[in-house]
Amino acid sequence: MSKGSILVVGGAGYIGSQVNKELCEAGYHTIVFDNLSTGSRETVTTDEFVEGDIGDERALTELFCRTDIDAVMHFAADIDVGESVRNPQKYYNNNLVKTKVLLDTMLKHDIKKIIFSSTAAIFGIPEKGLIDEDHLQLPINPYGESKLMVERILRDYDKAYGLRYCSFRYFNAAGGDPQQKIPYLKQKETNLIPVLLRNLKNGNSRSTIFGTDYPTRDGTCVRDYIHICDLADAHIKGLNQLLKGAVSRVYNLGNGKGYTVKEVVDAVNRVTNSTLNITEGPRREGDPHTLIADGTKAKTELKWTPRYSLKEMIEHAWNAMKLSGEFLEQI
Ligand code: UFG
Repeated sequence: MSKGSILVVGGAGYIGSQVNKELCEAGYHTIVFDNLSTGSRETVTTDEFVEGDIGDERALTELFCRTDIDAVMHFAADIDVGESVRNPQKYYNNNLVKTKVLLDTMLKHDIKKIIFSSTAAIFGIPEKGLIDEDHLQLPINPYGESKLMVERILRDYDKAYGLRYCSFRYFNAAGGDPQQKIPYLKQKETNLIPVLLRNLKNGNSRSTIFGTDYPTRDGTCVRDYIHICDLADAHIKGLNQLLKGAVSRVYNLGNGKGYTVKEVVDAVNRVTNSTLNITEGPRREGDPHTLIADGTKAKTELKWTPRYSLKEMIEHAWNAMKLSGEFLEQI
């Protein structure tokens, strides 16, 4: 007997595919719905897959008419901060307008539970060391704006229509499937750990540190890296609560521990037993110098404890990349 039917939109992507796999291991039945714009069919380890776009009301309607869905998990989004500055239309369309189509279609079919992937980018430049859920929300890029706007819609739909949600603000998601069943995606990466590993894999080509003059312990930016399996664990705990009738909640998901870019480089060197080819470059536009989560609320209310270290995140990402070696040559 399954614990419930969950629609995983964006379930062929980096985080969605890991959560989908763990939902099944936890006894849920899942249907993955993904337009494969950045995700890959090969990352979907479960049986039911529908290729479709969340902005396509007809496709969603067709799906909702033929399947009973207990809750939706929504991972489908564009996530490149720099691109969102250059092309805000794309972000407001794909992350905001299409999410509204998904929510409105859910309501038409009386589906009133959703887990939403939000981001630390909604906070903008942090005003204090550890960022809790109530920290001022002033995004500095369209990506963060688009996610914050969806959070506002969720809040208003909850009040007006009884839509219950759990919104997770991820800090820096990292790692790979420890069981090595999900290959690393072939998409072009901009995030630090996969960039370093990909460059290493591709003949140790040069990686750049963006900015070495920040007011941090070694001059490089500090981030809170969190393993995708720890994120998956929080999602399942949040889902269990929602299905039991919990009220809507927002949670910041991070380890509460910050690493500088240079510390990440050193850790990658140790894990891969190599010496990365590194150059120091200017700051990247829009980078806050420090982003660290205060994860107390998720730990207390969800009984969530992140398990994985930075070393394990790098090891698991490295192994997952080796699994998809043939793709990397094409990047
Ligand atoms: N960095 C480099 N060189 C690179 C890539 C990144 O020095 O080649 C630096 C960045 O300047 C930054 C740090 O490494 O200081 C982390 O950068 P990432 O691109 O890996 O991640 P961001 O912190 O910019 O953003 C990530 C996600 C966002 C999310 C945010 C929340 O990509 O979607 O975390 O913390 F909003």
